[in-house]
Amino acid sequence: MIPNEVTIDLGALRHNFFEIKRLAGPDTRVIGVVKADAYGHGMIPVSRTLESAGVDCLGVFELEEGLELRKAGCTVPIFIMMGITSDEVSAVVEHEFTPALFQIEVAEELSRISAERGRVTPIHIKVDTGMTRLGVRLEDLKSFLEQLLALKGIKLEGIFSHFAVADQPGHTFTEQQVKRFREAVEECTRLGVSFGGVHIANSGALLGNKGLDLGMVRPGILLYGFPPAEGWAEAASFKPVMSFKSRVIQVRTVPPGIPVSYGCTYVTKERRTIATIPVGYDDGYSRLLSNNGEVLIHGRRVPVVGRVCMNLTMMDVTGVEGVTVGDEVVLLGAQGKERITAEEIAARIGTINYEVYCTIGKSNRRVYTDSGKNF
Ligand SMILES: Cc1ncc(COP(=O)(O)O)c(C=O)c1O
Repeated sequence: MIPNEVTIDLGALRHNFFEIKRLAGPDTRVIGVVKADAYGHGMIPVSRTLESAGVDCLGVFELEEGLELRKAGCTVPIFIMMGITSDEVSAVVEHEFTPALFQIEVAEELSRISAERGRVTPIHIKVDTGMTRLGVRLEDLKSFLEQLLALKGIKLEGIFSHFAVADQPGHTFTEQQVKRFREAVEECTRLGVSFGGVHIANSGALLGNKGLDLGMVRPGILLYGFPPAEGWAEAASFKPVMSFKSRVIQVRTVPPGIPVSYGCTYVTKERRTIATIPVGYDDGYSRLLSNNGEVLIHGRRVPVVGRVCMNLTMMDVTGVEGVTVGDEVVLLGAQGKERITAEEIAARIGTINYEVYCTIGKSNRRVYTDSGKNF
């Protein structure tokens, strides 16, 4: 069997959830964002862990993910952040999901089906406070709300928006968005609507204390142990949940002048010892790490040499004593005193830690532990 393994530490996840609760305050409810297969960590085990830790709601992107969670036995409220289409309304009512709502046609269908079945479906209105991605424009909010108020079978349970730059400490646009969001909520109050769930804070906002007084928060990346970007000292108490390991499958010592991997982009200048692992871009280890990445072996950092192939990568282990076939190689995570973070990988390849987690997590066999205990 290919020795590659992504390990997910559910104990660390639980720790991070309680850290979020500590930051948000005891009365603030938490929507745990588990979309995109829980950022590559596995939506079902992550959701079960959060549910047993007391999460108030799970945030998925689309209906299909919600259906998977219900099938797995999750009973907490499930919030569909993308919203739904008219042909998904029936399933939403049947499985008691809470969809984001920003289109009147969908609201009308939801109202019709809910009323027909004697149900009341909770919805959260999505308002666009500056991201220009999804949501009701602020200038349209009043008329949207008036139309919703005329509909039976739906409960205006919540209102929410999303930050564009909350990951950048001190960015003024976040303040502007908070201000617009508060004005939107006030406008609703003037029209006689008060919501049980008002939320805008993602992980960056949690760390930067933006919009935490609204009663609900919606973090993702912090659950998985890291801030959304560099520069957040407040994130130091969070623990990484994912690690990625492989094992050496061949070692050989070669003379100077020997090319390594496709394209011969690396040629030994002197006698070097090269080890090979069965990890490549098909396993979520980006080809942009060719001659660029570093991995850990025997507790030491060594460079990736030559191109990362589809399923194989070579590294220079010259000077690391006694490397042999079967030795553990850490591509993401800690070994001895060294650690490779998703941020480091992201910086090397010009992306963000979110993408690193999603890609590595979804491309490999995952093993779940609870802070050391396997199951
Ligand atoms: C609507 C919405 N809310 C919350 C989150 C969580 O954001 P973060 O992972 O930065 O906490 C996301 C993630 O992209 C999102 O799209």
